[in-house]
Amino acid sequence: RRRPLAPRPAERISVIAHRGASEAVPEHTLSAYRKAIDDGADALECDVRLTADGHLVCVHDRRINRTSNGRGAVSALELADLAELDFGSWKHGQSAQHGKDPHESPDSEDPERTSVLTLDRLLQLIAEAGRPVGLAIETKHPTRWAGQVEERVLALLDHYRLTTPVRIMSFSARSLHRVRIAAPELPTVYLMQLLLPRLRDGRLPPGVRIAGPSMRILRAHPTYVERAHRAGHEVHVWTVDDPVDVALCARLGVDAVITNRPQQVRAQLAS
Ligand code: G3P
Ligand code: CA
Repeated sequence: RRRPLAPRPAERISVIAHRGASEAVPEHTLSAYRKAIDDGADALECDVRLTADGHLVCVHDRRINRTSNGRGAVSALELADLAELDFGSWKHGQSAQHGKDPHESPDSEDPERTSVLTLDRLLQLIAEAGRPVGLAIETKHPTRWAGQVEERVLALLDHYRLTTPVRIMSFSARSLHRVRIAAPELPTVYLMQLLLPRLRDGRLPPGVRIAGPSMRILRAHPTYVERAHRAGHEVHVWTVDDPVDVALCARLGVDAVITNRPQQVRAQLAS
């Protein structure tokens, strides 16, 4: 049995940068992660997918259509194909839609703001950050490369041996199970979009250490935090951008908030 946990004081809630400081900078780019570190994030979140030639890249969607000027599924493309593409300019287009001049964007030619990012490079950034920065890696329902994604993630973690907190997150209990078998000491986070009746008492699938409820769950079931804590599980909530949601997380004493705007959330939690 796990020891029950107490609600966490607001100033000690961990701030995890979702896809980097992705409100301001194109998601999953080196530039977004650098900004998150500069903004004082405690940890960085990234989604990982395996390319056709076996490289782990930080991309959220199954296909690259939304976040690049290319098309197709990550799993069908090679790293060299992705390296040719622009993963940043879509964000300038988005700014333009919101009434800003796309040419105002200061670093649109900066490769760190437009290149595909490998997990390897992200680990290197953390290793060289100059201060402790944690990492939360999300495996995205691996199907085509099921098993290989987890294997490659663990091999890279083994190579870098970060001394800061590292966690593997997934909506897939099977993916977390594979991690647990291969690396029982590595904490896992079970992500939940909706609260299934069998999880309402705060328990999680076997061996999972941390609960990862959506903000939607917390709004509908605010007492979930207390139940998970009573069962001995930390609670890491996503995606917490709205100040009203930040205030609710602070009141409930969650352990971590995953946000696209680490600087603002950090400031609110400290105030
Ligand atoms: O941090 C968990 C959260 O990232 C899960 O949702 O779709 O943004 O990967 P998604
Ligand atoms: Ca994610």
